[in-house]
Amino acid sequence: MSDEIRTIGVLTSGGDAPGMNAAIRAVVRTSLAYGRKVKGIRKGYSGLLKNDIIDLDSRSVTDIIGVGGTFLYTSRSAKFRTPEGQKQAAQICRDNGIDGIVIIGGDGSFRGAKALSKYGINVVGVPGTIDLDIACTDYTIGFDTAVNTAMEAIDKVRDTSTSHERCSIIEVMGRNCGYIAIGCGIANGAEEIILPEYYNYDEERIVEHIIESRQNGKRHYIIINAEGIGHSTSMARRIEAATGIETRATILGYLQRGGCPTARDRVMASMMGAYAVNILVAGKTDRVVAYKNGDLCDFDIDEALNMTKSIDSLEYSVANILSR
Ligand code: F6P
Repeated sequence: MSDEIRTIGVLTSGGDAPGMNAAIRAVVRTSLAYGRKVKGIRKGYSGLLKNDIIDLDSRSVTDIIGVGGTFLYTSRSAKFRTPEGQKQAAQICRDNGIDGIVIIGGDGSFRGAKALSKYGINVVGVPGTIDLDIACTDYTIGFDTAVNTAMEAIDKVRDTSTSHERCSIIEVMGRNCGYIAIGCGIANGAEEIILPEYYNYDEERIVEHIIESRQNGKRHYIIINAEGIGHSTSMARRIEAATGIETRATILGYLQRGGCPTARDRVMASMMGAYAVNILVAGKTDRVVAYKNGDLCDFDIDEALNMTKSIDSLEYSVANILSR
């Protein structure tokens, strides 16, 4: 074990995700178990630039494991993207005695971490985003809760859709990726899933399918549309005009980012937070914690940022078969 890291900082950055609090709690208590001091950097990199830093002890993280959002707050900082901002942020870390930081966030946050490390701060990233769009890992904190939240909301839309024999287009988050959409598509048994990754969007085929489904006795038609495709409201207008079936669009939006984390998110966040501290105190830096093929592991940040992944084609084809 290296003695170099005396004080560990923790921050959350980018879009918040349910389970971030559980990860912070794990970072704090694991660091304390190693005899390290812990400081919480509030409001992500922009808070770091404003020296918005607080001491954390075991009691600071009492009762937060089941709370959504992030009690350290979060932000997206334009100033931190500049070399001057990054240099200044590293100096603020040093002024506060912080020699290692755990950054909980997505790819953009890890790029920020890499920049800080250039100025001598040890950094480890923990994947926290509802989007699941971090290539090096099969799991990101918040994804499970977001899919469950969206699934429950879509079940409710389905009830009213069936009662009125309508078609419903439900837009889910995910930035440019369709992981939430495919998850809900399968979990909700949607008739159609429109994903950026499989973009061969053919509205005429969808219209024909809606008419055929109605003739086959289906009372509703649920289309899950990924945020990366968007335009759900105009799509609904066109589909209604072409099918003669009332069609409504529902954009789920930010409700998908909130709420109490599921057990899976709490457990994964706790394990990933603890893992991040383990590797920091062992002297590693510039790493991203990941969950790959059932195990926790870590990757070099650059390697992680250069990796790619896509929607599982088997999931996509199964979703299509089951929707008929
Ligand atoms: O990354 C999480 C996410 O909710 C995406 O799904 C969405 O595209 C984006 O953040 C919205 O970001 P903001 O909170 O800045 O509006």
